[in-house]
Order: sequence, then structure tokens, then C-alpha cells
Amino acid sequence: MSLTKKRIKIVSGSSIIGLALIYLYKFAIAPATSVPRASSVAHGVEEQRQWPPTEDAVQRNLQIAYEAQNALLHQQRQELLHTKEQLAQLEEQVRSLQASTPRKYPKVKYLNYKNRKRILITGGAGFVGSHLVDDLMIQGHEVIVVDNFFTGRKRNVEHWLGHENFELIHHDIVNPLFIEIDEIYHLASPASPPHYMYNPVKTIKTNTMGTINVLGLAKRVMAKVLIASTSEVYGDPTVHPQPETYWGHVNPIGPRACYDEGKRVSETLSYAYAKQEKVQVRVARIFNTYGPRMHMNDGRVVSNFILQALRNETITVYGNGKQTRSFQYVSDLVDGLIALMASNYTQPVNLGNPVEQTIGEFANIIKHLVGGQSEVKQIKAMEDDPQRRKPDITRAKKRLNWEPKVPLESGLLQTISYFRNELARSDRFQESSRKYFDSPDLQRILP
Ligand SMILES: NC(=O)c1ccc[n+]([C@@H]2O[C@H](COP(=O)([O-])OP(=O)(O)OC[C@H]3O[C@@H](n4cnc5c(N)ncnc54)[C@H](O)[C@@H]3O)[C@@H](O)[C@H]2O)c1
Repeated sequence: MSLTKKRIKIVSGSSIIGLALIYLYKFAIAPATSVPRASSVAHGVEEQRQWPPTEDAVQRNLQIAYEAQNALLHQQRQELLHTKEQLAQLEEQVRSLQASTPRKYPKVKYLNYKNRKRILITGGAGFVGSHLVDDLMIQGHEVIVVDNFFTGRKRNVEHWLGHENFELIHHDIVNPLFIEIDEIYHLASPASPPHYMYNPVKTIKTNTMGTINVLGLAKRVMAKVLIASTSEVYGDPTVHPQPETYWGHVNPIGPRACYDEGKRVSETLSYAYAKQEKVQVRVARIFNTYGPRMHMNDGRVVSNFILQALRNETITVYGNGKQTRSFQYVSDLVDGLIALMASNYTQPVNLGNPVEQTIGEFANIIKHLVGGQSEVKQIKAMEDDPQRRKPDITRAKKRLNWEPKVPLESGLLQTISYFRNELARSDRFQESSRKYFDSPDLQRILP
């Protein structure tokens, strides 16, 4: 064999071996050992070079995809934690900024330690309670409000939040409470028919178990306690005007019974604790009260008529409109409550305005003060609606030197102005929330 022929043979032999090695690498070794490309890994699938892939290769590829997914999740979790930390830091900064920014509070008197009392007001975020808070704070006392916000609102006392003499506790008085105080005004209870009829059992519990808790607390810490009772203990009275000596005419199973009887038991409990446990009790029988911060939709005559007149709607009078009511302005009531607490008098005291109005007359007064186009119309009478209500306040005059001072017209003007502002506020709120929810940006985000 010539040298050239030998060379050709060697070259072609090695080419065949080379080709075989390349084939082996490409289809058997490389797919199993190659590093996956980022894009293919990101999609969880490695580029396949053999079809069908071997079971091992599939397993390996799945493992790689799983690990890549895990790495991604871990990274996202880390980012989330980091963002949460940043958020917490920002919240802390906002809190410390708020704490260091001096807030403007209504001016309060300075009382020295001896004269300053720690006063608990249950239901202090409600209509009457919040006005009582204002007066006692301004007098320089430490005031603690306990409220479950069933009908009360934080907004009623927000102007005191953060004040060193003020504390707001979210608590349901049906559960016991342990704090150190000198005096308690126990006002916690729904007060208007739609509110107290909404959950009659809870109304009874608040006025029985709640009152027991309050009297128990008063006993433990030797505090004086004033119970906010009501003219409803007289029911549909057969005596007119009603003196405190009148025992009442209450339907014990009617729709109002949960409140009327609840308050009667509340009074009974007070005198039982006074007799048996020597707790110092005061009982205020409160008659219809009105003023700013009363509920817009409490279904009572003042709010109903004012709202109807402000909206130019028909003013609706239940029954023939000849039933009478007497209305006291809230500041008069608050003066009476504070005077009663300060007095030594322990028997129940009526706090109300004896100036009597028929409901029909009252509707016309409001229509005139608001000045709209509303007409006054009579509708079906309410069940158990008392026909006459007028307090005999001889006792309050004699024992507390108290009587209401605010004339109906000026009290109503203040209340109408409050309701007008509240309506405007709620209209503004509705408008801005409508704009927000209709905004194209939000529509894009919403699913
Ligand atoms: N406003 C009146 O014309 C009137 C008349 C007679 C008696 N009263 C009595 O005066 C008190 C105050 O009446 P208002 O007109 O301010 O009523 P309101 O509804 O505005 O206030 C009552 C407050 O008690 C709170 N409350 C209710 N149940 C509670 C519970 N279980 N635990 C803690 N808080 C609770 C409510 O959230 C609310 O803040 C009531 O006891 C009421 O019976 C009021």
C-alpha cells in the first residue's frame, strides 16, 4: 500500500470516530449536563435536544424549573418583608410626628390634685355624653369615656383625643370594668326607639348587667355614681305633669318595654346597691333632649322634623298631632346632671323642660325656622306612643337650684345649623366618594 493510500485510510477512520463522538455528545451527554439558558429556565422548560426526552432528562429539567421558581418566590418574599419594614418605619414616623406636633384643644381650667376628679362617663361618645365630657374637661377634671360605639361616634369626642386629661376606652359595659375613678356618670344605653328596639335583648342587658357592672365598680372603688334614667319610666302617664313620686304606667311587654323596664330595673338596682352596699347613687330622670350631635336618623321627633324640613320633604306627624312633648336643650341637661352629682340628694330627680308643645305646633315651629316649602301631614299613630309628657321639676328647682334656661327657638336654631352642616358634609363625602369610584384610574385597577 502506498503512503498516500495509508494516509487516506487513517483520515477516513478518524473522521468516522470523530463523527460518532460528536453524535454521542450532542444527543446523549449534552442534554443531561448542559446549563439551561435563562429564558428556557424562566419558562420552566429546558431546550430539548432529543425527542422524546429520557425520563432522567425530564426529571432533571423539572427539578431545575422548580428550583428557579423557588428562588423567584424567595426573592419576592424578601422584597415584601423589606417593604413591610419600610411601611412600619413610616407609620412610626407619622406617629412620632403627630405626638410631637402640639394639638389645639379647647381651653381647660387647671385644678390641683385635691380638687381634680377622675370621672368615668359610660356612653360618653354619644349625644348627651359628649357634651358632658366637654363641660367636665373644661372644668379641669380627668375624664375617661367608655363606649362600645353602638350609637356613639369617636367624632363626638375627637377634639379631646390625645389630651392628657382625656381617655377613650372601647368597651362594652355588659362586661365588667376595672379602673380607678372618683365619679361615674352611667349613660351607656341606646336612647331612641329605633336604636333600643333594634336589639331589645341587648338593650335590657345594657341596662341591667351594665348597671350591675357600674354599681359593682362604684362599690369597689367607693365612687359616686349617677344613673341616667328616663321619663319613659312613667310610660304613658295618667298623671300630668309627672312628679318623681308617680310610679308610672308602663306596658311590660310592649315594644318599648326593653328600654322602659330596663331603666326601671336600673333604678331599682341603684337603690338596692345604695341600701345594701352603701354606694352613693344619684338618679336623673331625663326628659326629651335635643341639640347638636344628636343622631341624624334616630327616628325621634326633633331630628325627623328638622331633616324633613331641610330636605324640603313632607313633615310627618304621627297621629293627630295633639300629643304633647317638652324639649330641653342639651346644655341645660348637662348643667342639671352635674348639679345632681354634686348635690347630696339621693332620690330620683326629673330633668326636663316643662314648656309643653303639641307635636303639631312643634312641626310648624321647625318649618318656620328652617324656612322651606315642606307641608305638614298626619300619618298613622305609633304603638304605645305616650300622649302627654311634661316634667314636674319642682324637686330639681328646690334641691339643685336648677331649671332650664335655653329658649326653644335658640336651641332649635343651633340644632338646625348643626344638621345643615352634617347634611352638607355627608353630601360632600358622597360626591367625593362617587368621583373616586367612577374615576378611570380605579376602573382600570378593579377586576
Ligand atoms: N337624649 C334623650 O332625649 C334622653 C332622654 C331620656 C334618657 N336619656 C338617657 O341618657 C343617656 C344618653 O342618651 P343619648 O341621647 O346621649 O343617647 P346616645 O345613643 O347618643 O348615647 C348612648 C351612648 O351609649 C353607648 N352605648 C350603648 N350601649 C352600650 C354598651 N353596652 N356599652 C358601652 N356603651 C354603650 C352608645 O354607643 C352611645 O355612645 C341614655 O342612657 C339614655 O337612656 C336620653
